[in-house]
Amino acid sequence: MIQKDAADVTKHVRDWTFTNSARTAFEVLLRGRSWPSGSSLLMPGYIGFTDREGSGVFDPVRNTGTPFTFYPIGERLQVDLERIEALLATGNHPMILVIHYFGLAHVDMAAMQELCSRYKVILVEDCAHVPLTTDAGLGTYGGAAFHSLHKILAVPDGGVLRINDPSVHRGTLASGEACAASTMEHVLRSDLPAIKADRKRNYAFLAERLKDVEGVEVLYPSIGEWVPHDFPIRVKDGLREKLYFALMEKALPTTALYYRMIDEITVQDHPNSYALSTSILNLPVHQDTGENDLRALCDTMEKELTLLRS
Ligand SMILES: Cc1ncc(COP(=O)(O)O)c(C=O)c1O
Repeated sequence: MIQKDAADVTKHVRDWTFTNSARTAFEVLLRGRSWPSGSSLLMPGYIGFTDREGSGVFDPVRNTGTPFTFYPIGERLQVDLERIEALLATGNHPMILVIHYFGLAHVDMAAMQELCSRYKVILVEDCAHVPLTTDAGLGTYGGAAFHSLHKILAVPDGGVLRINDPSVHRGTLASGEACAASTMEHVLRSDLPAIKADRKRNYAFLAERLKDVEGVEVLYPSIGEWVPHDFPIRVKDGLREKLYFALMEKALPTTALYYRMIDEITVQDHPNSYALSTSILNLPVHQDTGENDLRALCDTMEKELTLLRS
């Protein structure tokens, strides 16, 4: 029978749940999931927290009582697929979380997807630093992925849980966990291609400007097709803290993702994580930033570093 209007809410729609944050999206995914004895969620061993914000990645795991195991990461957060395969082959890890720190992939995602499908493991992508788009790429490899809207757009909150594989179970959203209507409206009004282009242009400017600066290591000189959340550098010789505060004093705020690891990740088991955590500094590339701002930031940074190193 023909209907007057379309009424099928499942037709030509994506399985995306809009939430108040990425951490809620992740928690909804973990909610109500049962873990056979001895099994656990595999997570990367580079997760931090702050007193003010807690841990966007680990709080959902703790809140849902999800058993967890950390896998080690390389000096630049690379994921070693051979080690992952050895872990998946134990049969103890029905789910693995991959974090696309800074909006970049740190492992060959097609290979990771193939590995997960071979071992029947649910691949989950943390896309908190990745723009939400319908394009192929990050966020489409996993059976599920979650995004943070306020990390890319000028909104105060918002997240999305995307279920790519219909067989992946998710829990229900509690009251107060939905995305604000004003945030949704802003998402729809945003010119994402322009935002992406600004971020990529700012990243390229910083990569060129900082490539030979004494005391600075550019962690990822080129980023191909990815859209950056920020521009991570390593500040050499233990000067990160001092540089961070020197820039702050000059009204040039930067961040450090993550300057403090959660207690569950120890320096003995994850030396690379601690080495990065104590030296990383993340510079802004967001769409409100222009070339003049970045030039001033880099000039000041270079001056302050020269002073600190003398
Ligand atoms: C990698 C990563 N995942 C998830 C989150 C959580 O994001 P949200 O603040 O939207 O809950 C954060 C930020 O805290 C993050 O940096």
